[in-house]
Amino acid sequence: MIQVKNLTKYYGPHLAVDNISFQVGEGEIVGFLGPNGAGKSTTLRILTCYQPATSGAASVAGFDVFTQSMEVRRVIGYLPEGNPLYPEMRVREYLNFRGKLRGMARDQRAAAIKRVSDRCWLGEFIDRPIGHLSKGMKQRVGLADALLHDPKVLVLDEPTIGLDPTQIRETRKLISDLARQHTIILSSHILPEVEAVCQRAIIIAGGKIRAAGTLNEIRDRIKGASRLIAEIRGPRQEVETAIRGVSGVRSVDATAVDGWNRIRMEVVEGQDVRENIAGLAARNNWPLRELRLEVGSLEEYFVQITAESHTARGRGTAA
Ligand SMILES: Nc1ncnc2c1ncn2[C@@H]1O[C@H](COP(=O)(O)OP(=O)(O)O)[C@@H](O)[C@H]1O
Ligand SMILES: [Mg+2]
Repeated sequence: MIQVKNLTKYYGPHLAVDNISFQVGEGEIVGFLGPNGAGKSTTLRILTCYQPATSGAASVAGFDVFTQSMEVRRVIGYLPEGNPLYPEMRVREYLNFRGKLRGMARDQRAAAIKRVSDRCWLGEFIDRPIGHLSKGMKQRVGLADALLHDPKVLVLDEPTIGLDPTQIRETRKLISDLARQHTIILSSHILPEVEAVCQRAIIIAGGKIRAAGTLNEIRDRIKGASRLIAEIRGPRQEVETAIRGVSGVRSVDATAVDGWNRIRMEVVEGQDVRENIAGLAARNNWPLRELRLEVGSLEEYFVQITAESHTARGRGTAA
C-alpha cells in the first residue's frame, strides 16, 4: 500500500532523511519509531505530498507521490504533527469547511461528518468552538478530519503527543479500532506507543532506518547480539590480548574503571565463553570481580540509538 525506495531529503546542506526504503502492506499498522529529529515528520510530509523529496521514489496505493499528488491526497488521511486547527471555528463548521476543500458535495459532507463524529466520539462537542476543547478532543477532531473522505491510508504524526494518560489511552484505542478498516502508518518517539498499537515497527534515527520488523523480530535480533562484560585487574595490554585469544570472542573493547579493566566482549552467537574467561583470569592470577552476560532489550537498544543520534547530530550534514 505504501512503497518507499531510496528516499532522501536535504534541507539545504542538512541531510534529514538518508536513503530510506520500506513498505507497508494493505491493512497493516506500522509504527515509525525514532527520537526527535530522526526524520519521521519529514518522511511523512513527503508521503502526503506536503513536501518534495530530494531524491528517491515513493508511492501510496499505486500512485506516485511526486507526479500524482491529487490521487495520493485522495487516498490518504493525514494528521500532521501539532494538528493545526482553527480555534474560532466550531467542530462541525470546521469539518464542513474541510469537506468543501476536498470537493465533497453538501449531502456527502453531512453524511461524512455524521460518520466521523460517531467514529471519533465527537458527540456533544460537535457544535463547540475548537478553541474551547481539550487537547485530547482536538486530537479527535484532527482524526475526524483525516477520516472525512474515508481514505484507505492513515498517516498519523505523533498522534498522542501532549495528551494526558487518559487521553492517550482513548486515542490509542481509537487508532486500534481504525486499524481494522485502514492501513496506518503512525510516528512516535516513544517505544510503548508503538508497542501498544502497532504490528510492526520501523526504527529510524539520524535519517537512517536502523531496524525493521515485528517487535518480536527486532527483539530477537537485538538479543542475538548480546555481549559479555568482565572486570579484570591486570596489565591492560596483556589482559586484552589474552581475551582476544579466547575462542568464541569476536571483539574486545577495554576501558579502565577505578583500577580495573572493564572489558566488553562481543561473543559468537550461541556460545557461552564465561567459563573460559574465568579460567584465563585464574591461570594468570588476575583478580576477576565481574562477569556477566548483557542481554540487550529493545528499550535499551532504543535508548542507545537515541543517544547515538544525539551525539551524531551535526555530522549528518553534507560536506
Ligand atoms: N523545514 C525544515 N527546514 C530545515 N530543517 C528541517 C526542517 N524540518 C526538519 N528539519 C530538520 O530535519 C531533521 C529531521 O526533522 P523531522 O523530520 O522533523 O524529525 P522528527 O519528526 O523525527 O522529529 C531534524 O534535524 C530537523 O531539525
Ligand atoms: Mg516530528
